[in-house]
Amino acid sequence: MSTVDFEQIAQYAKIFSDLTPKREALIAEAGIKIMPHLSAVTEKFYVNLLKVPKAAPFIEGKIDYLKKTHLMWLQQVFTGEYDQAYVEMMYRVGYVHVQVDLPVEFMSGGITLITNELIIIVSELYADEPEKSFEILGAINAAFGFSLLVMQASYQASVSEVLNRFLSITGVSKVLFDNLAAAYDKKAANI
Ligand code: HEM
Repeated sequence: MSTVDFEQIAQYAKIFSDLTPKREALIAEAGIKIMPHLSAVTEKFYVNLLKVPKAAPFIEGKIDYLKKTHLMWLQQVFTGEYDQAYVEMMYRVGYVHVQVDLPVEFMSGGITLITNELIIIVSELYADEPEKSFEILGAINAAFGFSLLVMQASYQASVSEVLNRFLSITGVSKVLFDNLAAAYDKKAANI
């Protein structure tokens, strides 16, 4: 992980998620009001995750630890600070998930479940200010999207790592591998 260009990952993810300084400031401001509701978000997250049969084996026996780390991460998100330390942390979180063989779609599924809860909370907290509620939800969506993009960068890197290992073990060059893959795809398409 030492050669990872975190600055480049952060820049890419910020553009893609449209996480602007204005949105970061808005989350920091709204975060004060949202913070007391985050433990309920974590609780609901694990209730919903347990409905996914494929997820259960990853959670069993670790739920208290997972809830604790999950809540710590959520609290971090609502400080509105997405500096290099945050990016490195999210990359590491992605890496930890790769290490335990968590399917890649669990990341987007997880973020979706958490976003669902935040929509309810923010809509209730800002019921009298619908425009502000709309702005805050946009900012939260951007911050979660940003975090997801960084975690997925770990997955992407680990796929490349596996391919490089395969090429190194077999002595097959990348060019030869690409040609073989293209020929295979062509053959498969004709079947
Ligand atoms: C929404 C995205 C998610 C976030 C932000 C998140 C956050 C975290 C964090 C902060 C850690 C601790 C990392 C560390 O040790 O440094 C962790 C570990 C872990 N998470 Fe997640 N998580 C997410 C989704 C999921 C999902 C959907 C599952 C499915 C069951 C899951 C299962 C695990 C497991 C098994 C570990 C490793 C526990 C161990 O050390 O053995 N996570 N996660």
